[in-house]
Amino acid sequence: MASLKNVLYLGVCLSAWIITTTNEKFVPKAENVQWVSLDFKTILTWTTKASNYSYTVLYSWNDSDWSECADCIQISEPECDLSQSLVAFDRTYTADIRTEPAMMNNGYNHEEFPHTHSPLFNPYRDSNISAVKFTVEVIDDSRVLINITDPLTSIYQHGKQLRIRDILKNDLKYKISYYKSGSTGKRDIISDSSLREVSELDAEESYCFMVAAYIPSRPKTTQLGAWSKQLCTQRQGSVLQELSLGAWVGAVSILLTVLIIIITVTALCCKCCSQRNKTVHTSQSSAPV
Ligand SMILES: *[C@@H]1O[C@H](CO)[C@@H](O)[C@H](O)[C@H]1NC(C)=O
Ligand SMILES: *[C@@H]1O[C@H](CO)[C@@H](O)[C@H](O)[C@H]1NC(C)=O
Ligand SMILES: *[C@@H]1O[C@H](CO)[C@@H](O)[C@H](O)[C@H]1NC(C)=O
Ligand SMILES: *[C@@H]1O[C@H](CO)[C@@H](O)[C@H](O)[C@H]1NC(C)=O
Repeated sequence: MASLKNVLYLGVCLSAWIITTTNEKFVPKAENVQWVSLDFKTILTWTTKASNYSYTVLYSWNDSDWSECADCIQISEPECDLSQSLVAFDRTYTADIRTEPAMMNNGYNHEEFPHTHSPLFNPYRDSNISAVKFTVEVIDDSRVLINITDPLTSIYQHGKQLRIRDILKNDLKYKISYYKSGSTGKRDIISDSSLREVSELDAEESYCFMVAAYIPSRPKTTQLGAWSKQLCTQRQGSVLQELSLGAWVGAVSILLTVLIIIITVTALCCKCCSQRNKTVHTSQSSAPV
C-alpha cells in the first residue's frame, strides 16, 4: 500500500516537473511591466512575445494575501485597469501577472505557469495629477477670485465619481503662480482650498495666473501636478475693459461704413454729373462682377 502511494507521488511529481519544464520553454512571461497612473486611473501595462496566451493579474499590499483583479482574469490585452481594485490609501501594492494558455484547463495548478512581479506602486503617492481647469473672477480693483475645479478620478463610490479631493482630502493644496503682464517677477501662493482670493493687485495692471495641484506630503518628484493653461485679466476690471473694447470696435466699424458710403456716393455723383451716358454703361458692365 505504502509503495503504491510512493509510486503515485513520484508520478505526480514527475508530471508536475514535465509541465513546469515544458512551460518554461514555451510559455512567455510578461515583460516591461509598468504602472501608468493619472488622477488615480491606474493601469498596469506589459509586453509579451506571443499573442495566444492570456494573463491573469493579482495584487497584494502585504505580500501574503493575493487577490485576483476581477476585470483582469484571463485577458488577452497586455494591460489591466486596477483603479477600482487598489484602494487609494497610502499603501504600497505589488501586482503579479500570470501567463496562462488561452484555453485554461481547471486541472492546472496556477503555480506552474510563469509570472512576473510588477514594480511597487502606491497610488496615493505616485499617481500623477492632470492640469486643472480654473476661472479668474475680478472682485474689485485689487482682488480676484481663483476658482479651481478638482479633477475627476475614475474611481466610483456609492455610484458617485470621486474627485481627487475626495481621496487626497487635506493633503491636496494648489500652487497658484501669477505675474504682472510684461514683467518677469513671478509670485507663488499655496492654497489649501479650491477657492482662493488673490489680493493686493495693482489696479492699473493686467495679471496672468497658472495653477497646479500641489501635494506637499508626497515625495518631491510627484508633489506637483501638471500646470494649467494661463489665464490673464484685462487692465482695470475685465468686464469694463471688454465692454469698452467692444464699443471701440463697434464705433470704428460704423465710422468706416459711413465713410465708405460717403465716398461711394460722392464718386457716383461726380461721375453722374460729368458723364451721364458713361455712368449707365459702367454700372451695366460691372453688374455681373
Ligand atoms: C508621471 O509622469 C511622469 C512625467 O510625465 C512620468 O515619467 C511617470 O511615469 C508618470 N507616472 C505614472 C505612475 O504614470
Ligand atoms: C494582508 O491583507 C489582507 C487584506 O487585504 C488581510 O486580510 C491579511 O490579514 C493581511 N495579512 C497580513 C499578514 O498582514
Ligand atoms: C500558440 O500559437 C503557436 C503557433 O501559432 C502554437 O504552436 C501554440 O501551440 C499556441 N499555444 C497555445 C497555448 O494555444
Ligand atoms: C466655482 O466654479 C464652480 C463651477 O466650476 C461653480 O459651481 C461655483 O459656484 C464657483 N464658485 C464661486 C464661489 O464662484
